[in-house]
Amino acid sequence: MGMVGGGEGAFIGEVHRMASRIDGQIDLVCGAFSSDPERSINSGRSLYLDEKRCYSDFNQMLTAEAKLPSSERMDFVAIVTPNHLHFPVAKAALEAGFHVLSDKPATYSLEEALALEKVVKQTDQLFGLTHTYTGYPMVKQAQALVASGRLGKVVKIIAEYHQGWLAASEDASSKQASWRIDPNRAGVSCCMGDIGVHAANLVEFVTGLHITELCSDLASVVNGRQLDDDGTVLMRFDNGARGTLMSSQIAVGEENNLTLRVYGELASLSWQQQEPNSLWLKQNNAPSHLYRTGVGDMATTAQAATRTPAGHPEGYLEAFANIYQDFAKQILAYERGQEVANPVPGVTDAIRGMAFIENAVAASQSETKWHPFETTKTPLKS
Ligand SMILES: NC(=O)c1ccc[n+]([C@@H]2O[C@H](COP(=O)([O-])OP(=O)(O)OC[C@H]3O[C@@H](n4cnc5c(N)ncnc54)[C@H](O)[C@@H]3O)[C@@H](O)[C@H]2O)c1
Repeated sequence: MGMVGGGEGAFIGEVHRMASRIDGQIDLVCGAFSSDPERSINSGRSLYLDEKRCYSDFNQMLTAEAKLPSSERMDFVAIVTPNHLHFPVAKAALEAGFHVLSDKPATYSLEEALALEKVVKQTDQLFGLTHTYTGYPMVKQAQALVASGRLGKVVKIIAEYHQGWLAASEDASSKQASWRIDPNRAGVSCCMGDIGVHAANLVEFVTGLHITELCSDLASVVNGRQLDDDGTVLMRFDNGARGTLMSSQIAVGEENNLTLRVYGELASLSWQQQEPNSLWLKQNNAPSHLYRTGVGDMATTAQAATRTPAGHPEGYLEAFANIYQDFAKQILAYERGQEVANPVPGVTDAIRGMAFIENAVAASQSETKWHPFETTKTPLKS
């Protein structure tokens, strides 16, 4: 793999590098790690990459890698830059004949996500999105339980993702905060674009339902912020279910408090990212059931995502590694002209994620209560 972004001092790039190595199927062979050419090359050197493959920018990397023999050149590009660069890098990489595994949110805008879908179709390359939480074994188990009918018809969904790290304005001095609160680099939303979109993806991934309408109240709690740092979204789904998605980056003391509760007519599920190896199934008038990673009969997808014996905690890095492992399988299958049963989130999720962000922002700016979930054009007023 090659990497764009993730240079010295960056956050998620190193997480991607660790996750990609866990199963021994992927080697980092090249990268353009920073917008600063010298920093980019130095970042590659500090990772002990071949000097010739420490590139000064991503266009140089794509041109040079495309000229290498197929046995040597990278197979795919991991994109770990701030949001505004996701689409230009993905487009250039796909058009140069490389698969792409991008971090979320997929693009800067819904319009770009729709353009991305066209590029993916035209180039016939693979596109994956690192919605990390879909990689947890207990999330896959939850998905399988809903699909099996164990919950009956899903009627109510509550998703929450709370953090506290942007609670004070001085936190904006950090590298990670500075671009997230800047509309030119983050997009139209901070909180919903950064973490609300993970929660929305998790809801649709686990339940298989689609948001059809929403009502939203977003806020910039810290004075002077141009983008939201907190918000609540009410949702209606295509089977008639209702739900709430609450997300915050100003909830003091919260770390990465992502939780999902799904209520069906027969049973309910609850899962917490900070205790990811436990999944509760509850019913009225019957004992609750605690699923634990690696214990007993599990869905095949959950089993395939489990590496260690029960009781040895698997966490964030392993969930991330599951996305890499699955994407590696997709690439191998692609080369054999096959498809895999459970691909990682892809371009459809990219569009739905960007639609979630823009619909939540547009609905929050409106006095109308319910808004259709628009996926084919931006709901934002120009
Ligand atoms: N999946 C997850 O759970 C998760 C978690 C955190 C961040 N993210 C996403 O990952 C992305 C990066 O977030 P971060 O917190 O690591 O940001 P960061 O600011 O720590 O890192 C961004 C990196 O991109 C580099 N960069 C900027 N412009 C570049 C260019 N033109 N060419 C090459 N590199 C360039 C920067 O130098 C930096 O090294 C964001 O889109 C964010 O939403 C996802």
